[in-house]
Amino acid sequence: MVTDDLGSRNLPDVLRMDDGRYADSPELWRERRKEILELLSREMYGFSPPPPEEVRADVLFGDEKAFGGKAAYYNIRLGFDTPGGEFSFPFSLAVPKDPVCPPVFLLISFSPHIADMCLPAEEILDGGFAVATFCYSDVAPDTDDGFSGGIAAMYGNGRRDPDSWGKIAMWAWAASRVMDHLWSRNDIDPGKVVVAGHSRLGKTALWCAAQDERFAGCISNDSGCSGAAITRGKKGEHVSNITGAFGYWFCDNYRKYADREDEMPFDQHFVLSLIAPRLLYVASASEDEWCDPQSEYLCCVEVSRVYEMLGAKGLSREDVRAQTAAGGTDGVSGYPGPGDELHGGSVAYHLRRGTHFLGRYDWNRFMRYFGKRFSR
Ligand code: GCU
Repeated sequence: MVTDDLGSRNLPDVLRMDDGRYADSPELWRERRKEILELLSREMYGFSPPPPEEVRADVLFGDEKAFGGKAAYYNIRLGFDTPGGEFSFPFSLAVPKDPVCPPVFLLISFSPHIADMCLPAEEILDGGFAVATFCYSDVAPDTDDGFSGGIAAMYGNGRRDPDSWGKIAMWAWAASRVMDHLWSRNDIDPGKVVVAGHSRLGKTALWCAAQDERFAGCISNDSGCSGAAITRGKKGEHVSNITGAFGYWFCDNYRKYADREDEMPFDQHFVLSLIAPRLLYVASASEDEWCDPQSEYLCCVEVSRVYEMLGAKGLSREDVRAQTAAGGTDGVSGYPGPGDELHGGSVAYHLRRGTHFLGRYDWNRFMRYFGKRFSR
């Protein structure tokens, strides 16, 4: 059962402050939030630099009648000064004509194209959302290059410390630079921007929304280990696997928890807690054993304590009970089954039948959920 399983994971209490006090009010939570940000920056992702003073936008291409006339489409180069000189990367934005000033999905993408297998842009525009996207490798290459390429080379002057930022932090920081630009636009609603990503970029979207409170919401699709899944007791990928193969995604300090996960002074619900009380959508796939959907679900349950303390509704577990009654879930364990979706709270979850992927099934549910929440 879910509650027993959570108990057996021996999770550190996200509400317990460093000095022993219990963060049981929004005021204390502001303090606790700072502690958690500091802890995760130091031990897992590395510290990100402050934002640049100004982000310049050059429109490389614009078409006011794209997608058969129903949307405007822009390809924009964002440029800013860094200690190593000017850095820039391109991003794409499509804004539907209807509604006026729509909410935005900002996808941190594996692809430079506005539409691809994982981003059904036209359907999203038809659903009344703008689409923004950039390709993560235009910011920093996804290779163990000794931090010599992309934005990594612009900061730190070649010096690396155990808490210097890893690539996930770099990609997340770049999404915040897109937000800097979106914030200044008057053709979208900057107060309704949702940052999204799949797999390693689902981990990235979480760390982005965790730090940058301008994002109204976050979608983490199949993010698994070091993403939305509880690490302690997880099946599939572990810290030793991820730091062995992709250590450069994190700061060096994170490596010390390989095979010592029980010693971590945090677990992944700490990351998700920084998004509270904003909208958080975690999506899993039933055959994605490397990610471990049950551990992703447990993380949503655990983080809901923070939402509730802040006066918001977390994951709506009544949804599971209702679906169980309708024969929709596996009925006994209290975990959602394939095809279930939990949309009743500020933490949402669905379990798609199938393997590791981000597709139309997922986007249709994201649109339905955020469409309803944003129209309130
Ligand atoms: C690997 C890695 C995962 C990651 C995935 C991806 O499988 O082990 O942690 O999520 O790649 O990004 O596709």
